Amino acid sequence: MSDSTIDTSQDAQAAQPFMQAHGICKSFQSAAGRETVLGAVQVSVGLGEVLAITAPSGAGKSTLLKILGTLETPDAGTLRCGGEIVDFRNRRQLAQLRARSIGFVFQRFNLVPFLDAQENVELPLKLRRMPRQQRRCQAQAALALMGLESKRAAMPATLSGGEQQRVAIARAIVGAPSLLLCDEPTGSLGEQAGQQIFELLHTFAHAHRRAVVLVTHNESLARQATRRLYLHNGALQGHAP
Ligand SMILES: Nc1ncnc2c1ncn2[C@@H]1O[C@H](COP(=O)(O)OP(=O)(O)OP(=O)(O)O)[C@@H](O)[C@H]1O
Ligand SMILES: [Mg+2]
Repeated sequence: MSDSTIDTSQDAQAAQPFMQAHGICKSFQSAAGRETVLGAVQVSVGLGEVLAITAPSGAGKSTLLKILGTLETPDAGTLRCGGEIVDFRNRRQLAQLRARSIGFVFQRFNLVPFLDAQENVELPLKLRRMPRQQRRCQAQAALALMGLESKRAAMPATLSGGEQQRVAIARAIVGAPSLLLCDEPTGSLGEQAGQQIFELLHTFAHAHRRAVVLVTHNESLARQATRRLYLHNGALQGHAP
């Protein structure tokens, strides 16, 4: 495994780093033996930027995003959020951090199948113990932003792939988290809808000073990000491999 070769000149330009990962390693056991997916990943993402990460399938993008979102524990390395070291052993602190500061658009959406679209979007606000009426208003506004006013009462199974993806995005942004982690958020959308979502994420980052990490296979969107990194051989680098 090669050393991380992140483009530090670009990294240093990122104003007000919100999330900083240092020496992140992760390997999994497979039939062929222990497979290293991430080897000493270094990355920081600042408030006000959209950081795009691209790599071929199986390179470890989702694994990295899950670690940045504290949903997966790294084998080694440290994560700092708002300057504080994240303690992966403290489940309660992790849950609080996620509820307060992190929004996640999962690659497979992960909508709760027995809750309707509106209830799915309200979930992060419920975790913050927001009063019901306020929750409903915010969730409706997020769904409207995604063009899904008419689908508020729809169950996930009745929605198209693109609609499910937009519900998942609404759920991730509804609480205006400081860090938004998006795992191929436009994968089920057409070109035009994908571009619109990108612009929304861009506005979210720039106008509202949030940090957005965008994992994408879409070259055109990756090029429009504030900054772009490539995951290659388990490390992030600033140039195409
Ligand atoms: N929980 C797990 N247990 C075992 N292996 C895993 C686990 N999670 C991920 N992997 C392996 O780690 C590698 C990277 O997976 P990951 O999902 O991070 O890739 P990816 O870059 O997101 O791919 P894609 O573009 O297809 O979504 C794969 O070989 C996968 O099989
Ligand atoms: Mg993935």
